[in-house]
Amino acid sequence: MSGTHLRLAMLLCLWASTGTAQTLSDAEQGLRIMANRQQGNCVTCHQVSVLRDAKGIDGAAGKQGDFGPSLDGVATRYNATQLRQWVMDARLLKPNTLMPPFGTLEGTTQANPARPMLTPEEIDKVTAALATLR
Ligand code: HEC
Repeated sequence: MSGTHLRLAMLLCLWASTGTAQTLSDAEQGLRIMANRQQGNCVTCHQVSVLRDAKGIDGAAGKQGDFGPSLDGVATRYNATQLRQWVMDARLLKPNTLMPPFGTLEGTTQANPARPMLTPEEIDKVTAALATLR
């Protein structure tokens, strides 16, 4: 194989591997955001059984907290709008909640960096993931 062909082949492999990452469903991406300690980090406060058993997901292997209720079966307790609200700003559902708002900085005084923890797109994906927890 000539140098050019080899480079082309390597490029194609790279393209194919990034292509696979993009084919993950919103719910699958949402679960990854929930497990990721730099993103949702939901597992620091919540038990999520499907993540405990997941292989190859960043953060999933770590210990899960129980500060908040288990999220198993949460989709049977709330509809999609409510699930999104919990993540966006739980205070609108429960004013004195100890769950931090992920989609807004409103009413927070010491957030750092000065932007919400999750983007609206990430919140959509987390909502899609929560909707699968039956
Ligand atoms: C600092 C701890 C903490 C983190 C981090 C956290 N939560 Fe919560 N969450 C709570 C607590 C505590 C409650 C219970 C509501 C209350 O009493 O304040 C709750 C409640 C919920 C509920 C409602 C559960 C039910 O059965 O009523 C959902 C859904 C939820 N959280 C999703 C999430 C998701 C998704 C994330 C990550 C993006 C997350 N939480 C991150 C603490 C947390």
